[in-house]
Amino acid sequence: MTSPATLAKEHVEEKKVMREYILRTRPGGVKGVDHDALCDLLEVDDPSRVIFEQGRGREAVVRVFPVNPLATMRAITLEDLTMDENGCIRVGSYYDGEPLRMRVHDPETGNAQRVIIFGTTGAGKSRALQAFLIACKRAGIVVHLADLKGGQSVPEAQGNVATHVTDLKEAMGLLRAAVAKAEARFKKYAKLGRSGFIINDPDPLEYVVIDEANRLLEKGSPFRAEAAKLIKEIGRTGRSVGIGIVLAAQAGHLDELGGSDTLRAMLKEGEVILLRWSSQMMQALVSDGLLPSGENLQPILKEIGRVRRIRRWDGRKDAGGTKVNSQGMCYHLTSHRSSSMARFFLVGSLKPYKGHDPAIRALYGSAPPPGEPLRLIFPPPKEGKAGSGGADPDGAGLEYAEGDEPELEAMPAMPKTNAQRILAALEDGPLSEADLLDALDNDGGRDVKPGSIRTTISNLRREGQLAPKDASGLISLPQ
Ligand SMILES: Nc1ncnc2c1ncn2[C@@H]1O[C@H](COP(=O)(O)OP(=O)(O)OP(=O)(O)O)[C@@H](O)[C@H]1O
Ligand SMILES: [Mg+2]
Repeated sequence: MTSPATLAKEHVEEKKVMREYILRTRPGGVKGVDHDALCDLLEVDDPSRVIFEQGRGREAVVRVFPVNPLATMRAITLEDLTMDENGCIRVGSYYDGEPLRMRVHDPETGNAQRVIIFGTTGAGKSRALQAFLIACKRAGIVVHLADLKGGQSVPEAQGNVATHVTDLKEAMGLLRAAVAKAEARFKKYAKLGRSGFIINDPDPLEYVVIDEANRLLEKGSPFRAEAAKLIKEIGRTGRSVGIGIVLAAQAGHLDELGGSDTLRAMLKEGEVILLRWSSQMMQALVSDGLLPSGENLQPILKEIGRVRRIRRWDGRKDAGGTKVNSQGMCYHLTSHRSSSMARFFLVGSLKPYKGHDPAIRALYGSAPPPGEPLRLIFPPPKEGKAGSGGADPDGAGLEYAEGDEPELEAMPAMPKTNAQRILAALEDGPLSEADLLDALDNDGGRDVKPGSIRTTISNLRREGQLAPKDASGLISLPQ
């Protein structure tokens, strides 16, 4: 199904609330579908109202809604966040109302989970994590959290998790301690002749949760190699002894997450949730093997409900369309409906709070968090300092021994991508293609080829980072 011309309408059903089409695709199913072209074919001006997903065999199910069914989501409740008999919680809903679930515990195998939540900035990663953290606290699951934006990403978690750290060094201390704990459990269970983990008998299920994991793992991080090794170790050893790992990351490439070989296999076996992405991320997810090649997920636009508007001769836009943000919209790539659009329920308030969000605090409840804080492990202190193992619950007063202090590599300035250069060039207003090419030729970056700029423009349009094509022929940022 690569162009509307190849679509054969087999079945058209008209309903009061929506239209549903079953379209026949080329062999291989819903691949390389051009969502904009599909909207044109169906004569729908608001692309977010048209949702397609793979049907059986060569069928694509295309539904046209009066408004995007995920435009408004209800608030998450404690009932949603209570584990069911399968160890799952309800975190949101697919566009057709089926609950979106996340597994917190696997009662069948006893294994701890491995979860990664990807998304571009502001896509809703931290709120998604917060849902997981609340569910853990309520279920007596112990959480060791590194909130690597100085504690600002999930502020309400403070006091509601067993261990709470906010910088890279402490996060490393936490990871080392978690691996040590997993190894100790491994030996203990081996002695007991245990073959698997039994929750709360005698040990609780525990999770290491890292928000902004990219800060530890990206190129240039002084801890990249060790962090990747430790995370992999938790994924491997921790899993069967009740210590799991949950990462939220804004990453362009798995390579930025400590090297693709290291984490790819582990992540592919775990749960992968993809919130709104950037163009680099999508290509990377495919090349990293997290998405089948050729699979083209319907884009999550930054704003939904926007109609394509015509630019008038005097530069004004025709009014129309209400803006609704798409934060929390996602694909659960490792679920049974990997290509169905879903959205997290609302966790807390839409508006930022000066202090802690009372709705989120209420979901955590006022009880103390389950479990004991991990004793963070740091490299041996310098000669002359007291202590042997270097363990210090607060991580305070510790310094690295000579030679152990990781050096921050001098990072060369990152060259800008074509997408970044195009977006920057359009900041002062819409441009014709020729003017845009001119601007790019003069922005000090490397030479550009018109063909690749055109491709980047259509990618950006598809993602909603540029306004859709209109009659003026100008290229502009979305309003
Ligand atoms: N499920 C949701 N429904 C509606 N709005 C949401 C949802 N999740 C997040 N938001 C809104 O989006 C904002 C950003 O969410 P969040 O902080 O979770 O994003 P993030 O991906 O962690 O961003 P950053 O890259 O800045 O860390 C929130 O303040 C909230 O207003
Ligand atoms: Mg965040």
